[in-house]
Amino acid sequence: MVKTAILVSGGGTNLQAIIDAHLFGEIKNCALAAVISSNPEAYALERAQHADIPSYVVDRSLFPNRETFTKALLEKLQDLEIDLAVYAGFNFILAPPFIEAYRNRVINIHPSLIPSFCGLGYYGLRTHEAVLAHGVKVTGATAHFATEIADDGPIILQKAISVLEDDTPNTLQRRVMEEAEWEILPRAISLFCEGRLEVDGRIVHIKEAAETDE
Ligand code: GAR
Repeated sequence: MVKTAILVSGGGTNLQAIIDAHLFGEIKNCALAAVISSNPEAYALERAQHADIPSYVVDRSLFPNRETFTKALLEKLQDLEIDLAVYAGFNFILAPPFIEAYRNRVINIHPSLIPSFCGLGYYGLRTHEAVLAHGVKVTGATAHFATEIADDGPIILQKAISVLEDDTPNTLQRRVMEEAEWEILPRAISLFCEGRLEVDGRIVHIKEAAETDE
């Protein structure tokens, strides 16, 4: 079993999608070992509690800078012997020591088709505002390995959805979540936990599932 920690900062709908998929057996070989929040008020913590997943707070506001916050988070993951970390609406780019320790073992979900509408300043609703302001006809979500650079790592899965004439940032956000994020993030976690992801530079190869007797 791959010991997995979900890192959150807010509402945690992606966390909920992971919990539900795990419950339905759609995420294989994965132990949901911890939910870690950067925000003590995050509703995601309640979702973890309902699902009986141990939860922890590493409160960003108590640390003077990114380096000390990163160190505390890394220590928490290492204390818990976590194999895979997932940013599920986690609002921070951690300092390099984190990625060095967890290279190709951190998965992020971003609400656009990377490399469009991503990087610093593009998060949450702002991403969808930018999509609408640009007038693109297609957007979506991307699950990728996180690196030291915001939204830049090797892409695991993407799903496209159409932008509608009457979309607002809120309606678009909801559709991207429902139709793309909540589907590809649990799927990417399962592929990782099944040992089916092979990273070659920027390229992620997805291997066939091993044959079972079931
Ligand atoms: C999600 O749409 C996620 O993709 C986005 O924040 C939202 C968090 O919602 N993340 C980013 O924009 C990261 N660049 P949630 O807390 O309900 O999962």
